[in-house]
Amino acid sequence: MVVVGNQWGDEGKGKVVDWLTDQAHGVVRFQGGHNAGHTLVINGQKTALQLIPSGIMRAGVACYIGNGVVVDPGHLATEIARLEAVGIEVRSRLRISESCPLVLPSHVALDVARELSRETRGQGKIGTTGKGIGPAYEDKVARRAVRAQDLKHPQRLHDKLRETLDLHNFMLREYLHAQPIEFTPTYERLLELAAGVVPLLADVGHLIHLGHERGERLLFEGAQGTLLDVDHGTYPFVTSSNCVAGNAAAGSGVGPGYLHYVLGITKAYTTRVGSGPFPSELPIDQPGTVGHHLHTVGQERGTVTGRPRRCGWIDTAALKRANIINSTSGQCITKLDVLDGLPEIRICVGYTLDGRDIDVLPLDADDIARCQPRYETVPGWSETTAGATRWAQLPQAARSYLERIAELSGTPIAMVSTGPDREHTIVLQHPFEG
Ligand code: GDP
Ligand code: IMO
Ligand code: MG
Repeated sequence: MVVVGNQWGDEGKGKVVDWLTDQAHGVVRFQGGHNAGHTLVINGQKTALQLIPSGIMRAGVACYIGNGVVVDPGHLATEIARLEAVGIEVRSRLRISESCPLVLPSHVALDVARELSRETRGQGKIGTTGKGIGPAYEDKVARRAVRAQDLKHPQRLHDKLRETLDLHNFMLREYLHAQPIEFTPTYERLLELAAGVVPLLADVGHLIHLGHERGERLLFEGAQGTLLDVDHGTYPFVTSSNCVAGNAAAGSGVGPGYLHYVLGITKAYTTRVGSGPFPSELPIDQPGTVGHHLHTVGQERGTVTGRPRRCGWIDTAALKRANIINSTSGQCITKLDVLDGLPEIRICVGYTLDGRDIDVLPLDADDIARCQPRYETVPGWSETTAGATRWAQLPQAARSYLERIAELSGTPIAMVSTGPDREHTIVLQHPFEG
C-alpha cells in the first residue's frame, strides 16, 4: 500500500502511517529527505520524524529508506540518537539503500544562498526548508552525486567529494558570492559518520522483494504532497522529487505490481508552507476569522522550520487532480476536528480563469495564481468531533461534508482522523482490506 499526501504536504501522513503499521511488516520511504516533518502522537507523547519512516514507533516493524531518498548522514545520526534516547531500538530495524545520494553541507549552503539570491534579484524565494534537498537531487540527476555506498570506500569518497566540492565551491564563490565549504573537515566528518551509516546499508529493493515473497504487508510512506511534486505540482514552487504514488516503485527499487492500494491523505481544509499559488487561501492574522481559526486550532506551524503554515478552505478541484495522478483508491480525511464550531464551511469546487469556469486545477503556476475560486457553502456543526472513533459519532453535518468531498474529488473516504493521537481514528474501509 502507498500513502501519499494529496495537497501541499503536512496532511497528517505520519499519524496515519503510524496507525496503519499496526498491521504492517515494514514501512518504506521512497522520496524526499529530511525536509519532511511527520508528527506522531502516541498516548499524548509527540515524536517528530524527518528521515526515518513512521513505522519506527512500533516494535518489530522494519523500516527502509529507498534509493529515491536523499540522505544527510549528519541529520540521520541525530535522528537515530534522538529516538534511541527515548528507548526506541532503531539500528536493527532500519536499512538504507546503498544508492541513496547524500546531502552534503555544500548542498545546504547552495540551497540557502540560492534562496537569498532569488530574493535579491526580485524573483521571490521558493521558501525551501533550507535542508539542501534541491541541490542534492540536482547532483543525482547530473550523475555526480556522492552516494551512500561511497561511504564504504574512503578513497572513492575522497575523490568524489573533492570533485563535487570543487564545483559547489565555484558556484558558491563565483556565482552566489557565498562562503565556500572546506574539503578536509567535510571529508573527516563524513568518515566519522560512515562508521554509523555503513552497517545500515543494504540492497533495499531486494529486501523488499524478499519480504513481498514471504507475503509481508509493506507500506510505502510518501513525503511532501502531490502539489509539491516536481513534475505535477505548482512548479517552480515545488520540492525536487516526485511525491506521487507512482514513484513509490522507482524510489524503492520494486515494480509497480507491488503497489496494490493508494491511500491519499487529505486534510479537511488546506495548508501550504513556502511560496506559490494557493487559490483558496484565507488570511490567518485576524482573530475571529476562519483563517485564524484554522491556523490556531489546527496548530498550523511547520514541523521542520517552525514557519506559520498558510491556511484556506478545502479545494476539491485540486484534489480531483491529485486523486487522478495518484490513482487514489481511498482517502483519509484528517483534522476534521479543527472544523468543529464553524457555523458554515466552504468548499472550493472550481475556479474562474480568464472569464471561463474550470473544475480542475490548472497545470501552470501563473494560471493558478490568476484563478478565482468558486465556492459551495455547506452547514458546519457545533458538536465536537475531536477524538471520535466511529462514523456514527459524527454529527450529520460532518458526515455530509465528508460525503460531499468524496463526491466532488472523485474518490471514496476510507478513513477519518479526528485528533493527533494514534487512537483518534475512524475506519470505514480498512486500506489493507481494500
Ligand atoms: P505530515 O507531514 O503529513 O506527516 O503532517 P505533519 O505531522 O507535518 O502535520 C500534521 C499535524 O497535525 C501534526 O502536528 C499532527 O500531530 C496533527 N494531526 C494529525 N492528524 C490530526 C487530526 O486528525 N486532528 C488534529 N487536531 N491534529 C492532527
Ligand atoms: P511533509 O512530508 C510541507 C515545501 C517547502 C517549500 C518547497 C520546497 O512534512 O509533508 P524543499 O526544502 O523541499 O526544497 O522546499 O516544498 N516542503 C514541504 N511543505 N511539508 C513538507 O513535508 C515539505 N517538504 C518541503 O516549504 O515550499
Ligand atoms: Mg509535515
